[in-house]
Amino acid sequence: MQQQNRRVVITDCDHGNVEIEQSVAERYGVELVVADCATESDVIEAGRGASALLTQYAPVTARVLEALPELVAVGRYGVGVDTIDLDAASALGVAVCNVPDYGTEDVSDHAIAHALGLLRGLGALDRGLRRGESSLEPVRPLHRFSATTFGVYGLGLIGEATARKARALGFQVVGTDPRWAPGTTSPAGTTVVSAEELLESVELLSLHLPLTPATHHIIDDNAFAQMRQGVKLVNTCRGGVLDTAALIRALDGGRVAGAGLDVFEEEPLPQTSRLLEFDQVALSPHAAWYSEESFAELKRRAMENVLEAVVGRTSANTVNAAALTAMKKEVRNV
Ligand code: 8YV
Repeated sequence: MQQQNRRVVITDCDHGNVEIEQSVAERYGVELVVADCATESDVIEAGRGASALLTQYAPVTARVLEALPELVAVGRYGVGVDTIDLDAASALGVAVCNVPDYGTEDVSDHAIAHALGLLRGLGALDRGLRRGESSLEPVRPLHRFSATTFGVYGLGLIGEATARKARALGFQVVGTDPRWAPGTTSPAGTTVVSAEELLESVELLSLHLPLTPATHHIIDDNAFAQMRQGVKLVNTCRGGVLDTAALIRALDGGRVAGAGLDVFEEEPLPQTSRLLEFDQVALSPHAAWYSEESFAELKRRAMENVLEAVVGRTSANTVNAAALTAMKKEVRNV
């Protein structure tokens, strides 16, 4: 099926190649252009005349969407759509698509890996031994998993997968999510507590929240003040849910005994960050999403999402489908 003069622009992609995306575009008969955008202006310039954008981290703001009247869809390489102005897209009849479940297994594995490393003190012991230090003091007290309460903040697909794996490892697991009432059990089997009870009761807290205005810096000085002394923290969702300066204060003061961080407010993490100073902080470069399996699935499905919209169909992963319907907005058919 040839789509005359239809073009999809990949605004940015750090995957090293787009062979999978190119093969999908050829299957749909659509031209594929790859750009290297970092700013709104870059995206506007690269996106001129495009029927759809596929974006990794480049901003797709209201200004971008208004400047590109031929857009019918914006796709995201991933779950999170915090870099796309959903309200503006819906108002303009532009479908926003994501791939909600490509990395559930991979990100939850990564969160568990960071958690286990922290709870066994592996990073700090490794760095100490490389300096010739073999004392256990820097990581004491360590407790058995069965004597440890593992908290999950956000019980979406990844949060629930993380909770399930933590239960299988013997942890006592509790979670919180606004969709489920404290004192109940989530449909996936996690004991639900209030956010306050979560912060006050867990020895390890793993964050699995979307970044929204409501969750930005939800873990701040006040949240740390509610946590147990010596709590350990894992963040594989979005850097912005965690107030970095507050975390550093909590590490300096010992409230937080360790952190496993895969995402940061500024990425890549600057070499000047004080997070690099702490033996008890384990770092990874926004890598939780990656496995060879998730890589291939993400690239294929992200491309298929936007091409379905380009050819006039609705992708099952249209994040703003309800808003488009509510606004009685037909996805643009230009
Ligand atoms: C990936 C992500 O990090 O799934 C998500 O929301 O975190 C993604 O941004 C990356 O973009 C995959 O290419």
